Amino acid sequence: MIEILEKKDYRQITNEMHLEFAAVSANESFARMAVSAFIAPLNPTIEELSDVKTAVSEAVTNAILHGYENRGSVTDRVQMNCTLKNDVLEVEIIDRGVGMADVGRAMEPLYTTRPEWERSGMGFAFMEAFMDDLEVVSEPDQGTLVRMYKKLGLNAWIENEE
Ligand SMILES: Nc1ncnc2c1ncn2[C@@H]1O[C@H](COP(=O)(O)OP(=O)(O)O)[C@@H](O)[C@H]1O
Ligand SMILES: [Mg+2]
Repeated sequence: MIEILEKKDYRQITNEMHLEFAAVSANESFARMAVSAFIAPLNPTIEELSDVKTAVSEAVTNAILHGYENRGSVTDRVQMNCTLKNDVLEVEIIDRGVGMADVGRAMEPLYTTRPEWERSGMGFAFMEAFMDDLEVVSEPDQGTLVRMYKKLGLNAWIENEE
């Protein structure tokens, strides 16, 4: 019997997932693990995985700490939408919290409104550095949407038995 091994290109993946979770700090690590499981079929490099997990953590932490003012209320919700279009990951982190009046200012490195919580003001700078693209839409008292993109692919070819 002849076995034919074919190379399957996982860059041809289209996939999506949507999560909604309580705005409590335990869910920061849940969100990191969920996004890394979601992109696992693309066989990302350790560095790509670490970049995506760090960026998602920063956005989710911001939603919980700033958006919902660290209330720890399980009725406050964070949404996470992940889409894979071929080898490009799009992640949205959405809260319906306090929002921001000046997004440009908030995104400046070292800017924080919570020095008393020992925040470094580097969350948005990390999201920008570790992802390929970052969009932030926010309205006071309406909430905040953070949308990030990253092309994954240094390691995308996987030997696969058909
Ligand atoms: N989801 C959010 N809702 C409301 N304000 C936010 C949100 N994310 C960030 N901010 C504001 O932007 C500032 C900068 O965020 P960031 O760069 O992550 O620094 P840090 O979290 O260390 O303060 C925060 O201090 C906060 O004022
Ligand atoms: Mg932050």
